Amino acid sequence: MLRVGILAAGGGTNLQAIIDAVEAGAVTNVQLAAVISNKPGVKALERARAHGIKDICVDMKEYKDRPEFECALTAAVEKENLDLLVLAGFMIMIPEELVHKYNNRIINVHPALIPSFCGKGFYGLKVHEAVLEKGVRVTGATVHFVDEVYDNGPIILQKAVEVKNGDTPEILQRRVMEEAEWQILPRAIHLIANGKVRVEGSKTRIEE
Ligand code: GAR
Repeated sequence: MLRVGILAAGGGTNLQAIIDAVEAGAVTNVQLAAVISNKPGVKALERARAHGIKDICVDMKEYKDRPEFECALTAAVEKENLDLLVLAGFMIMIPEELVHKYNNRIINVHPALIPSFCGKGFYGLKVHEAVLEKGVRVTGATVHFVDEVYDNGPIILQKAVEVKNGDTPEILQRRVMEEAEWQILPRAIHLIANGKVRVEGSKTRIEE
């Protein structure tokens, strides 16, 4: 049983998709051990509590500087004895110490097809605004392992989503979530928890 911790700081719809998939038995071998947020009062923490999952807030504002906050976040994660960390709408860079300690054990969902529309400054709605601004016809989502560079680690799963005439960033964001993110994030967790994902250099090999 993999002890999974989810780092989420927003609406928590990806967190909800994971919870639903675990409860429905589509994701197996997983115990959702904790949800950790860097912001108090967010919907993601509420969703955790509603499903009996431990909710933890490491409020960035309570620390005098970034290193102190990073230390507290690292300590909070380590205390939970987690096997896998899932970034589901966690908008800040993960402390390097944590990335090294959890080498190939942190995954992230990004709302575009990496290597397009990713890297520093590309998060949340900004990604969809950039997609519409560029006029690409296809976008999607990516689940990948996290390394020290934004949106850079080995890719686990991707799913394409059509961009349609008249899309606003909000409409496109919703379609990318529904058709891609909420499917591939739980699926990636299931594959990892069942030993189906191997990292080989800068890529992964998936046994489906
Ligand atoms: C999701 O679209 C996720 O892919 C994105 O933020 C949203 C969070 O929604 N993450 C990033 O942009 C990270 N670079 P949620 O809180 O409802 O899951």
